Amino acid sequence: MTTKRQQSLINQIIIDKNVIIILRKEVFMKTIKDFDLKGKTVIIRADLNVPIENGKIMDDFRIKQSIKTIEYAITNGANVVIMSHLGKVKEESDKVKYTLRPVAKRIEELINEKVTFVPFTRGGKLEKAIKENKIVLMENTRFEDLNGKLESNNDYELGKYWASLGDLFINDAFGTSHRAHASNLGISSNIESGIGFLMENELKTINNALKKPKRPFVVILGGAKVSDKIGVIDSLLEKVDTLMIGGAMAYTFFRSMGYTVGNSICEEDKLDLAQNLLKKAEEKGVKFMLPVDTKVGKEFKEDTESKIVSYKEIPDGWEGFDIGTETIKMYTDELKNAATVLWNGPVGLFEFDQFAVGTNAIANTLAEIDAVTVIGGGDSAAAIKKAGLSDKMTHISTGGGASLEFIEGKKLPGIECLMDK
Ligand code: 3PG
Repeated sequence: MTTKRQQSLINQIIIDKNVIIILRKEVFMKTIKDFDLKGKTVIIRADLNVPIENGKIMDDFRIKQSIKTIEYAITNGANVVIMSHLGKVKEESDKVKYTLRPVAKRIEELINEKVTFVPFTRGGKLEKAIKENKIVLMENTRFEDLNGKLESNNDYELGKYWASLGDLFINDAFGTSHRAHASNLGISSNIESGIGFLMENELKTINNALKKPKRPFVVILGGAKVSDKIGVIDSLLEKVDTLMIGGAMAYTFFRSMGYTVGNSICEEDKLDLAQNLLKKAEEKGVKFMLPVDTKVGKEFKEDTESKIVSYKEIPDGWEGFDIGTETIKMYTDELKNAATVLWNGPVGLFEFDQFAVGTNAIANTLAEIDAVTVIGGGDSAAAIKKAGLSDKMTHISTGGGASLEFIEGKKLPGIECLMDK
């Protein structure tokens, strides 16, 4: 039996085309609040994949967002084993760069309780530490990828082993829910499971904002490659009033229109696709906005020589790194009329101040307008934070790829596996 609260959660999280199927199946998801946690060992899968440089955490947003579930479990009498991936672990030497040790320290500071970091992903020492400590953070789940991609290929035995470390699994890793890995799908196939507060909030908020968006509904998409965003552009063309393109992706569109783009990033094998997307936008009556000018630089470095040129006149030997002044005006004017805005991906190389102008202008405009604003993707979220505007947005998602796939209406394996549990 689904409780009223559980069923209402499902009704809210299901995206348009899945509604009928889901309701017929009466699918539901349990949340951490549905379990008696007293005396239990709860495995919490968080997404603690944060940028770390030389052992220093550069952005702790995802860690902070994960704390509520951890604290709730402890307050309600559970011991917790926290698991997460960090980076893409390909070779032995990545173990230094991608250890979760600094994250354990940060959690400890945030919850003011001892967090025992265990530098293993399996074995007697891990099992002993779990028995003897209230809060354990296990080493990076992707270290198991060095044993034959066991984590990323959702190795059954590994998922089963990790499930054996606790009594209950709480998946709070929204940012990882587009992955079918041993530490989400694998564990939940072997043990009673539910979602945590972060996951619940992401699903509800994104869905509430975007399922029946107030119009005009404007989406800003940035990022390097058209190929990364094909699916989402295609599906957004069914829903949005205006689609604005920024970032290096724009140069593939310019090239597809027959212009030269100098040294700018361009996917020569995606030109037809770019044309098809433009055609589809026209057919659907979607306003598809591309930059009309661009800030180009001589080299990929902070203080390189730069200038603003028309998109039709990008000189040889120069590379596009930001949208230009006219485009900024055009985009921000359009945003001022929006009722719902979804932003995924910076519109320029915002890590370098001189190419952050476009991204900052978008961020500032979003902070000023009276619209529902949903920010997805680590880089756009980082840009908003850098500008000190986080509390001015309706929702900043902890998910990058996951939030895009969710908006696209794709089934996310890390969430699907929790339905009907
Ligand atoms: C992310 O940063 O988008 C998530 O943590 C997933 O990471 P991944 O792309 O390395 O799987």
